[in-house]
Amino acid sequence: MQHFTCVITLLFLVQFIVVTSAQLADSPAPAGPPNITAVLEKAGEFGTFIRLLKSTHVGDQINNQLNNSVNGITVFAPTDSAFSSLPSGTMNSLTDQQQVALIQFHELPYIVSISQFQTISNPVRTQAGDVNNGRYPLNVTTIGNSVNITTGIVNTSIASTVYSDSQLAVYKLDQVLLPLEIFGPPAPAAAPAPNKSKKKESSIAESPSGTSDSSGATAAVNLKCTYEGGIVFAAAVISLWWSY
Ligand SMILES: *[C@@H]1O[C@H](CO)[C@@H](O)[C@H](O)[C@H]1NC(C)=O
Ligand SMILES: *[C@@H]1O[C@H](CO)[C@@H](O)[C@H](O)[C@H]1NC(C)=O
Ligand SMILES: *[C@@H]1O[C@H](CO)[C@@H](O)[C@H](O)[C@H]1NC(C)=O
Ligand SMILES: *[C@@H]1O[C@H](CO)[C@@H](O)[C@H](O)[C@H]1NC(C)=O
Ligand SMILES: *[C@@H]1O[C@H](CO)[C@@H](O)[C@H](O)[C@H]1NC(C)=O
Ligand SMILES: *[C@@H]1O[C@H](CO)[C@@H](O)[C@H](O)[C@H]1NC(C)=O
Repeated sequence: MQHFTCVITLLFLVQFIVVTSAQLADSPAPAGPPNITAVLEKAGEFGTFIRLLKSTHVGDQINNQLNNSVNGITVFAPTDSAFSSLPSGTMNSLTDQQQVALIQFHELPYIVSISQFQTISNPVRTQAGDVNNGRYPLNVTTIGNSVNITTGIVNTSIASTVYSDSQLAVYKLDQVLLPLEIFGPPAPAAAPAPNKSKKKESSIAESPSGTSDSSGATAAVNLKCTYEGGIVFAAAVISLWWSY
């Protein structure tokens, strides 16, 4: 199974290389990495999410990751009406750190296409929290290309694809993903739900100083097959070389 997945992935990689080099042959110099803010601004209904990406600095992290990561990024972008349908004060009741976690909860540290959701295994790790321990997971179920997401508190589905290329996929959500770890019932010895007494008075538009541990998230995806990968990769390069 592992082996099979590996081979499939490598075939995609080979195809990607062939397609990419074909494009390089045809087109002028490639543009730089995609810019999450610019992508969302262009779509026009994500003003609150953009503001939160800025205030939490998660937007900068995403742009850095896009410039440095081979795994790409997946972003679930809640619309402005998703944010405005939250109970009032929801965002302001969070600490800076919780706001960072909430926004990172909308990010997967690797790219997932719509069809790849069909084979992703639950629970799906997000960028929030300590990725290695799988904190802040969410679950995905699919029927064909319809993708449902549940956090344990919110059930929603991907409304549409806002943007996708080889590095970045951005999906529109009609609800904000509320993580159980922040909004769930307080569990003994676990992080308690936000207490009103800790209520943060500042508005979300302000820039909190809280920075996150972006923990250099590594996608678990298919990096286990380095050896076979090397062989197939070499084969691909050689075959490309011959084709020119
Ligand atoms: C991304 O786009 C935003 C808005 O268009 C711009 O302000 C910002 O400088 C861009 N960031 C990078 C890294 O290009
Ligand atoms: C991407 O990274 C390279 C070097 O790692 C840097 O020169 C370039 O300015 C970066 N581009 C953006 C858009 O951040
Ligand atoms: C997704 O959610 C909708 C609405 O709750 C439901 O009708 C549908 O069966 C769900 N699909 C999957 C794949 O869970
Ligand atoms: C997510 O899926 C895992 C594994 O199937 C399950 O143990 C967990 O309870 C699910 N969580 C939610 C919130 O659905
Ligand atoms: C989400 O879906 C699960 C099972 O599909 C259901 O038990 C739960 O009540 C739903 N939660 C909400 C908030 O709709
Ligand atoms: C939450 O705040 C209330 C006062 O508003 C206080 O009585 C209670 O002890 C606090 N709970 C925790 C867990 O801090």
